[in-house]
Amino acid sequence: MRTQVGIIGAGPAGLLLSHLLHLEGIESIVIERKTREEIEGTIKAGVLEQWVVDLLRETGVGERMMREGTFHGGIELRFNRKGHRIPIEELTDGKRVTIYAQHEVLKDLIAARLQAGGHIIFNVGDVTLHNIDTSAPKIRFRQDKIGEFQEISCDFIAGCDGYHGPSRSYIPNRKEYLKMYPFGWLGILTEAPVSAPELVYTHHERGFALLSTRTPWIQRYYIQVDPNDNLSNWSDDRIWTELHARVETTDGFQLTDGPIFQKNIVAMRSFVCETMQYGRLFIAGDAAHTVPPTGAKGLNLAAADVLKLSQGLVQYYETGKTDRLNGYSEACLRRVWRAEHFSWFMTTMLHPDPTQSQLEKKLQLAQLEYTVSSRAAATSLAENYVGMPIDW
Ligand code: FAD
Ligand code: DHB
Repeated sequence: MRTQVGIIGAGPAGLLLSHLLHLEGIESIVIERKTREEIEGTIKAGVLEQWVVDLLRETGVGERMMREGTFHGGIELRFNRKGHRIPIEELTDGKRVTIYAQHEVLKDLIAARLQAGGHIIFNVGDVTLHNIDTSAPKIRFRQDKIGEFQEISCDFIAGCDGYHGPSRSYIPNRKEYLKMYPFGWLGILTEAPVSAPELVYTHHERGFALLSTRTPWIQRYYIQVDPNDNLSNWSDDRIWTELHARVETTDGFQLTDGPIFQKNIVAMRSFVCETMQYGRLFIAGDAAHTVPPTGAKGLNLAAADVLKLSQGLVQYYETGKTDRLNGYSEACLRRVWRAEHFSWFMTTMLHPDPTQSQLEKKLQLAQLEYTVSSRAAATSLAENYVGMPIDW
């Protein structure tokens, strides 16, 4: 097989890159380890920054999102059993966040690529990269995991294969920065009506809790748990008891329960790989950097990377110039470190760490108190939460 850009991974980074390149007349082939059904059924992110929503709309894949998404002009920070609204829209000149599930974005991108004759190969195995320091790199893989080896010859490889994918390991002399947090999130989907008008991020002595939403009838809730805990320890009853205890307020907030139809536990890490390129290989999204989910930044950062990568590739194919491609990593990393800091800040402020001292607990509450009572502090949170300008 021959194409211009070989893309490893059909997550948000890989599929959006393939879509953006197609609109510029650049061919790509996407290979993906999972099946299409698995990709379209994996529950992850929910919050999209304003510029990502604009990009999806402008590039023709935002129609269902605009119909089925939920649009919020604020979030609530809840601590000491009291809620405080951060009026994001007012503090950011009218920007809002959109709640629309990651796997719905993926369904829309897959449908658009296939309709346009795009080539996505699902369920591949044994992926290896070759000749990336030449102008003729190759990707080898097995179709259906156990089939014959196949090869894609291309001009460039985009490693969009997430934190556990193989691409990053092909960058020699890379420097990796990693912090694991001593807690994780247990996420549920429940068939219940909305209990709060906007997302609620709660600091509670029993642990963090987050109330998010998917549709007026399906809610997405998270609670802080031990990252090594097992789902079998979490009966539906135990989850509801914990959620109720953490989000209750002194003014009688009511959380409505419902049947839980999906549960998972995710570990939390902050991770950055410098650099994000070597020869003809460029890595993007979680393959290059991971954030703890508290700031809702991961998917949005992946989109920013591939927008910049697509611009570099367009410049190369239109003019033969490589300055944008050469500057790819540097252009991405400024935004990446900003989002890393914001995600670490939100995580550290909102999660009582099982190992923290009484002093650190007091510092968390002091930071929360400042964030909700100072317009300057609230504006800083709001600016980061809706997403820094794309040229940041
Ligand atoms: P991935 O989504 O990890 O995609 C990589 C793809 O590559 C996968 O499909 C994988 O199967 C494939 N792959 C791996 N290895 C191979 C291989 N060898 N060969 C072929 N394919 C391979 N982000 C936000 O912006 N907003 C949020 O609200 C938000 N909430 C979150 C909540 C939770 C609970 C979690 C877990 C994450 C959340 N995130 C959020 C983060 C977001 O989901 C990720 O940052 C995003 O999925 C990254 O996209 P990606 O394409 O870089 O990587
Ligand atoms: C969701 C995920 C997040 O990480 C977050 O900060 C807010 C909402 C969600 O899945 O809805």
